[in-house]
Amino acid sequence: MLATTIGGRTFNNCMMNAAGVRCQNKRDLDALVQSDAGAYVTKSATPQKRAGNPSPRMHTLPHGSINSMGLPNNGLDYYLNYVIADQQKRPGTTNFLSVAGTSLADNLAMLHQIQASEYTGFVELNLSCPNVPGKPQVGYDFDRVHTVLDQVFEFYTKPLGVKLPPYFDLVHFDQIAAILNQYPLTFVNSINSIGNALVVDPQSEQVVIRPKGGYGGIGGASVKPTALANVRGLALRLKPEIAIVGTGGILNGVDVFEHILCGASMVQIGTQFGYEGIPLFDRLAKELTDIMKQKGYTSIDDFRGKLKTF
Ligand code: DHB
Repeated sequence: MLATTIGGRTFNNCMMNAAGVRCQNKRDLDALVQSDAGAYVTKSATPQKRAGNPSPRMHTLPHGSINSMGLPNNGLDYYLNYVIADQQKRPGTTNFLSVAGTSLADNLAMLHQIQASEYTGFVELNLSCPNVPGKPQVGYDFDRVHTVLDQVFEFYTKPLGVKLPPYFDLVHFDQIAAILNQYPLTFVNSINSIGNALVVDPQSEQVVIRPKGGYGGIGGASVKPTALANVRGLALRLKPEIAIVGTGGILNGVDVFEHILCGASMVQIGTQFGYEGIPLFDRLAKELTDIMKQKGYTSIDDFRGKLKTF
């Protein structure tokens, strides 16, 4: 009922974690493997292990979260070894390995290593991390996106997708889609957090996180309308071979349903998975199944991308 297909790979559930949340180490990833999630994505990797930004670097909000983690991760070897070992244990399953180099050279070096490895799963190339001081989000520089993808697809032949930042202008949807359509991408994942927001605590008259003077990425309920706009905006513009992974503002089965109506083939949950943990996936599966039964749908393809307009 909840199965989905991306790039010829079938997943028995269209819900999974979003990169960065509860996926940094083997214990987190093992828990996801055991869960009802249809797949997992690993914490965005850099070539070497990183400690990330100083704390406090994440703060909960009434309608979401703000974070500026700064890419704390165990380095590419750690995650690549994990996904290869998992693929040997569970042949036929596909998962997502996230990479987020802080330079083009780092991204190319990591992708060369993955290309040369036994890994056959998906790579999610993160072009939208807002939290490394001095490193702008690649996804907001369209020429740079072009350059990165030109260089990547000169040698990379395994299934690859990109994680995008949110866009806020319809012309930007046109421009990014025109670029992405030039490449053999398997998927695009939209959206990353709404970057560089500022949360103020009026009582202490202070910001709530330490890095970057308090600026950080917003996730959770408050980003859902922006996420849906991006999922829909890209679904209407990308060639059909490129699947959409919808991320942003999912708290319940209705939110999943809306993402799929807007065109998502898979959805990822970040902030709410952070708050709720593994039981989230069983709850969301039940909630989406109930909605589908009420509406008489037997597969997500019955309503995927079929949002009505006036
Ligand atoms: C981090 C945040 C992101 O939104 C992202 O895409 C990658 C890394 C971080 O701060 O660790």
